Amino acid sequence: SVKKRVVSGVQPTGSVHLGNYLGAIKNWVALQDTYETLFIIVDHHAATTDTAALYLACGIDVSKASVFVQSHVPAHVELMWLLCSSTPIGWLQKMIQFKEKSRKEGVENASVGLFTYPDLMTADILLYQSDFVPVGEDQKQHIELAREIAQRVNHLYGGKKWKKLGGRGGSLFKIPEPLIPQAGARVMSLTDGLSKMSKSAPSDQSRINLLDSKDLIVDKIKRCKTDSFAGLEFDNAERPECNNLLSIYQIVSGKKKEEVMEECKDMSWGTFKPLLADALIEHLSPIQARYQEIIAEPEYLDKILSEGADRAEELGAVTMRNMYQAMGY
Ligand code: ADP
Ligand code: NA
Repeated sequence: SVKKRVVSGVQPTGSVHLGNYLGAIKNWVALQDTYETLFIIVDHHAATTDTAALYLACGIDVSKASVFVQSHVPAHVELMWLLCSSTPIGWLQKMIQFKEKSRKEGVENASVGLFTYPDLMTADILLYQSDFVPVGEDQKQHIELAREIAQRVNHLYGGKKWKKLGGRGGSLFKIPEPLIPQAGARVMSLTDGLSKMSKSAPSDQSRINLLDSKDLIVDKIKRCKTDSFAGLEFDNAERPECNNLLSIYQIVSGKKKEEVMEECKDMSWGTFKPLLADALIEHLSPIQARYQEIIAEPEYLDKILSEGADRAEELGAVTMRNMYQAMGY
């Protein structure tokens, strides 16, 4: 039987941080046993081997999953172009990233690439007929767009029209579903508590990078923003920092939410912070050790990425053949 498929990725435009890990990469690991999994390093500019090594260090197992670099599979850009012709401008104008950037810089100065980027992300997903896309909460809007574009293309070019052109008829694309984790879907900045932890935030103090040293982790946690309430608790809207730090602690310590509530309810920040720093270090140390081993073997990484790209190309070729046929090329 054909396995259901899972596709996801991270942009290597800075260091991979705890948000990327808890919101995305950590959750990919559990899926590779059940599904055909494809994990993309979405490059288009940057150094990619670091991110590839981190995927593996976090537990992605290449005997179960395909790991590859986006630009090694030209079909992503090819499909994007076909999808652009079925994407109303109004849909892209509603995308939050574009709206924010063009508001800051003026729409005349925003690049066409920024505007059409969601079509590339849609191609990343639809190319593989993905069933599921494990991502953090910030990607919800992108997955929703991918679903709408898939439905529109199915309607415009699929079914009887495709059959008339010699195809099998029916849907050209599967409609993908997001998989957003219960805990860790939106890890917040350590310094303002309001925005999400992000690679692009100017302050390195605002995030834990997966490769941060022990001393740096201790220092960042010591200095992170807290509040002046007594005791610690989840899900109090007045206490976003408290909820964020407890959630991080819950995931990296592997404990249940109730356990953490019980353990921490009477704690002061002064007691909790070293506990959190220790739990983070204990969780990240083995990842960092594996990363060092993997990054020391560039030939091994090249081989893995090349095998991953071969598998991705094979799967993507089916979609491209169908698309060209259905669109009358
Ligand atoms: P960034 O926004 O840091 O550049 P990417 O856009 O490369 O990260 O996102 C890669 C994955 O990490 C996506 O699935 C995204 O939803 C997830 N992610 C990014 N930031 C966070 C966060 N602060 N909390 C949870 N998940 C996140
Ligand atoms: Na993001």
